[in-house]
Amino acid sequence: MHPFKMEHDFMTAQHLDALFEPFRVKSLHLKNRIVMAPMTRYFAADGVPGENVAAYYRRRAENEVGLILSEGTVVNRPAARNHPGVPFFHGEAALDGWKRVIDEVHAVGGKMGPQFWHVGAVASFQTEWVPADPVESPSGMFAPGAPRGKTMSDEAIADTIAAFSRAASDAKRLGFDTVEIHGAHGYLLDQFFWSGTNERVDRFGGATLKERSRFAAELVKSMRAAVGPDYPIILRLSQWKQQDYAARLAETPVAMADWLVPLVEAGADVLHCSQRRFWEPEFPAIDGDAGLNFAGWAKKLTGAATISVGSVGLSGDFMGAFTGESSTPVELDNLIQRLEREEFDLIAVGRALLSDPHWVTKVHAGDTTGLQDFTAAALGELV
Ligand SMILES: Cc1cc2nc3c(=O)[nH]c(=O)nc-3n(C[C@H](O)[C@H](O)[C@H](O)COP(=O)(O)O)c2cc1C
Repeated sequence: MHPFKMEHDFMTAQHLDALFEPFRVKSLHLKNRIVMAPMTRYFAADGVPGENVAAYYRRRAENEVGLILSEGTVVNRPAARNHPGVPFFHGEAALDGWKRVIDEVHAVGGKMGPQFWHVGAVASFQTEWVPADPVESPSGMFAPGAPRGKTMSDEAIADTIAAFSRAASDAKRLGFDTVEIHGAHGYLLDQFFWSGTNERVDRFGGATLKERSRFAAELVKSMRAAVGPDYPIILRLSQWKQQDYAARLAETPVAMADWLVPLVEAGADVLHCSQRRFWEPEFPAIDGDAGLNFAGWAKKLTGAATISVGSVGLSGDFMGAFTGESSTPVELDNLIQRLEREEFDLIAVGRALLSDPHWVTKVHAGDTTGLQDFTAAALGELV
């Protein structure tokens, strides 16, 4: 049950100030704190984002979304995707499609970055489709004790890092305002972080989280070299994995610092800290921490800008979307209080923006009655 029922008319203009403050990180200047969360939609025929995809993102840009993060789009590695509707971020046709996307978003004053993805050993739960090439991951495992695909060689690791870096320089060349690396939810980068799926005995494995973070750190460093010092790089991370919602990489703030500080030192400017419910404290109460969430701790421990996410404005969490559950609108008070305290800098909104391109405009105007329920039917179309 969501703790913030819509019990009163919460949206007065003054009350919303913290949500509509501009924000700046390096060359990225945002008009407000609202980010469209990256959401896979499977509408890219042959891996190419078409006019329908460009129009979908443009509608969010037209309606006050501060920063749009694209659906996961895969880098140039065999078997990087696990569904034929996922877009490529390589090859002339796909990059032309992405050029149209960013041009349309810019034409209406929006800002956007692609989310770069490699699924590692994770199979889609929505299709039987499998890539022609063998799947690859740190130790040839999908989950602890569950083998799938092959263990990456040194060459595969080097080529993967090069593929992410190439995607970043292509994004910059096409005009995107930033890029995000998908390091969360049990996919490739997270398979390196997680001891349950990383049994390597070379320099990309080890008993400590710091050692298992080396792959991500080298990837970020290489991307930084590709885009130069002023271009913002966002890194998305999570403790939870789709293989195990209860899994945690860092049980204490000290362990979290060991994980995150090297990634920020490697060149990540913004940490996008994925939770399913943004209001949940990251650690059991510690004196003076005011129940900080993951993004709150990440900001406190690293000094980097952070994005929080998870059930903003909706009653149920997003995994319910895949089992047909509906969610109803809820108030934003707790979110706004956390932004006012500067616990984190930006807030990503997923399903509320997937189903309603006008969500931000309605919030800004105080139109609480115009806010819609989220139903799983929304996943079937690009509104
Ligand atoms: C349909 C759908 C697709 C998603 N695809 C991605 C994805 O490609 N990359 C990613 O990092 N997260 C993905 N997510 C997670 C969202 O970015 C977000 O973290 C999650 O939906 C929680 O936000 P919400 O409660 O506001 O929906 C997806 C979520 C949904 C509902």
